[in-house]
Amino acid sequence: MSDRPSPRARRFMPAGPLTGRIRVPGDKSISHRSLMFGALAVGETRVTGLLEGEDVMATAAALRAMGATIERGADGEWRIHGVGVGGLLQPEAPLEMGNSGTSTRLLMGLVASHPITAQFTGDASLSKRPMGRVTEPLGLMGADFSGTTLPLTERGLSPAVPITYRLPVASAQVKSAVLLAGLNTAGITSVIEPVPTRDHTERMLKGFGAELWVDEEDGERIIRIRGEADLRPQTIEVPGDPSSAAFFAVAALIVPGSDLVIENVGLNPTRAGLYAVLRQMGGSIEALDRREVGGEPVADLRVRHSALTGIEVDPAVAPSMIDEFPVLFVAAALAEGRTTTSGLDELRVKESDRLAAMAEALAAAGARVAERADGLVVDGTGGEPLAGGGPIATHLDHRIAMAMAVAGRASRGGVEIDDTAPIATSFPQFEALLDGATGSPSR
Ligand code: S3P
Repeated sequence: MSDRPSPRARRFMPAGPLTGRIRVPGDKSISHRSLMFGALAVGETRVTGLLEGEDVMATAAALRAMGATIERGADGEWRIHGVGVGGLLQPEAPLEMGNSGTSTRLLMGLVASHPITAQFTGDASLSKRPMGRVTEPLGLMGADFSGTTLPLTERGLSPAVPITYRLPVASAQVKSAVLLAGLNTAGITSVIEPVPTRDHTERMLKGFGAELWVDEEDGERIIRIRGEADLRPQTIEVPGDPSSAAFFAVAALIVPGSDLVIENVGLNPTRAGLYAVLRQMGGSIEALDRREVGGEPVADLRVRHSALTGIEVDPAVAPSMIDEFPVLFVAAALAEGRTTTSGLDELRVKESDRLAAMAEALAAAGARVAERADGLVVDGTGGEPLAGGGPIATHLDHRIAMAMAVAGRASRGGVEIDDTAPIATSFPQFEALLDGATGSPSR
């Protein structure tokens, strides 16, 4: 199990409106994949805007341990020299995954079709998360696993067996694990996706030159990849992470007087659900200067303080905002009337049980919230600040910490977070940006 930095408590006090222009760091999903695909391409892949958070650094360290060269230039550009598909080497030490489910599940996919054995270890949060969802399909391809939770040992098989796999849960990580195993497997590996999830793996693998087809059949997406691919090195510009921008969008919506521009936000339709839901609640969010960055739709978001109204959130949008529910619940706590969510069973197996953690956290901050088996019901204040309180237990979950920091900005007495250290997994600059955007660092 990995050592975490010692807990860092902080009380997030009410502060001024959020104004000016900010830029959030690079997309976490795209950053992981840039390193992984670069590590499998022969030649030099260059990446700008890479998220330099702990999760992505765990991926980089693991890929180095398996033979790739990954360096950061003084100019902030990352340069990756890959080993070629099929060329990953036996790591000499356990692969330390920290808090990162994406690193773990995608790398398990890569290892599955290489003739190597790797041990995966992680922190207390990651060690509780279900890995059976990837060990099952990867096992069908021939890989062998010592268990279904971390720490575990995986023995890959080469040649592996191509499969057709229907996803039993809406998970881009599971989809990606199977497709990545398929990269080094002769023949066609297929994934059937009844509910669409983020499609960065598909977009990026095509960009790297893999033969990959996406078809719609009977309302389902079918993704097929031809194995033993040759990946060509790429130059990648990583767009800003919509999941990180979400905290600032909600903060600007709920703190009176705010008028904030968040630049360069990725708005891939498989990721942008939160922004549609917030608009449906009455949020003023304008997408300015729509453009493409790194093959992804991007815009600058202008977000102004708005009177929000509670809604019933359609469970069908859940996959396109799966990481944004903690902060949506905060927006709901400040809205007029009731917000109801359902179909969110997956939130119970994220970095924490996010339904239980947010129900407890919001109640501690003075919000009215009820926990149901598959969602939360939140009765908002109609714009009145929350009383505040805490300390909030973040359970090693960066998004609980950031969501409740935002709640603190819309409270009377502030919200105390028991530990802000996990924020560094995905958004190391979060506190500095929040303090800067509200003009007044307040502890
Ligand atoms: C991710 C997929 C999602 C998401 C995670 C990143 C990815 O997980 O929650 O933060 O990069 O593929 P699931 O596949 O478990 O839904």
